[in-house]
Amino acid sequence: MDLHGQVALVTGGAHRVGRMLVLALARAGVHVAVHYGRSAEAARETVALARRHGVRAAAFQADLTQAPAAAALFRQVQEALGTPRILVNSAAAFVPGQVRDTTLENWDLHLNLNLRAPFLLTQAFARAVGAGPGKVVNITDWRAVYPGQKYLAYTISKAGLITLTHMAARELAPGVQVNALALGVVLPPPDRDAAYLQRLVQRTPAGRAIREDEVTDALLFLLRNDAVTGEVLFLDGGAHLVHG
Ligand SMILES: NC(=O)c1ccc[n+]([C@@H]2O[C@H](COP(=O)([O-])OP(=O)(O)OC[C@H]3O[C@@H](n4cnc5c(N)ncnc54)[C@H](OP(=O)(O)O)[C@@H]3O)[C@@H](O)[C@H]2O)c1
Repeated sequence: MDLHGQVALVTGGAHRVGRMLVLALARAGVHVAVHYGRSAEAARETVALARRHGVRAAAFQADLTQAPAAAALFRQVQEALGTPRILVNSAAAFVPGQVRDTTLENWDLHLNLNLRAPFLLTQAFARAVGAGPGKVVNITDWRAVYPGQKYLAYTISKAGLITLTHMAARELAPGVQVNALALGVVLPPPDRDAAYLQRLVQRTPAGRAIREDEVTDALLFLLRNDAVTGEVLFLDGGAHLVHG
């Protein structure tokens, strides 16, 4: 798909990885809807940064743990910027929990935000773009297919997101491509430092975190290439090879 002049919706686009994705799209000439939950100030900054690239950009608030908010978000973006032909599902929760101690609240948070919201947005997207063209990129995690011990509901939600990717890719073909980026360590969680990040990455074949340009190149590749659909691109420095 020729990206220039398209409209994209990026959930969780205000800061961190989401902001990287928004700005990559803006640099490619894509008008961007920056969704945020609580980070209004960061969303405003991201919108301003995106506009420097000469595209239209606007911020949209929605609590994506609430089902009606997802469909409403898509409608608001459509009315303000036109029908998005690119949907990037990045907003997510990442809270520890194992079988014995995962609360219903923890379970619902991950399943509703990380999986149900992408489903509802994909549904709204599919209805709006019809036969296409259109692109969905779901941001998942290499842990989804090589589960560890500490993030039960998160891992299950991200595994479900891969299945959603596969099933939507089949159903929405040939006009709409649906792919996933399974990220390794890009940034440490907000409450952790660089030393934590170094400990995580030292066991991976690459031995380092994934760079912003590597994330954004992968996103743009998936958006531009119409032959790739149902793909899960592991952008993790080989983490999935050693942690399996
Ligand atoms: N960081 C990494 O190295 C890494 C590694 C593997 C996979 N990933 C994946 O990459 C994506 C982005 O990661 P990140 O580290 O940048 O995420 P993050 O810092 O944890 O940010 C979470 C995002 O989700 C949004 N969000 C949280 N609760 C929400 C709610 N109730 N309603 C709507 N939005 C909500 C936040 O928006 P507000 O702040 O506006 O509330 C924020 O933009 C996620 O899907 C994550 O699983 C990241």
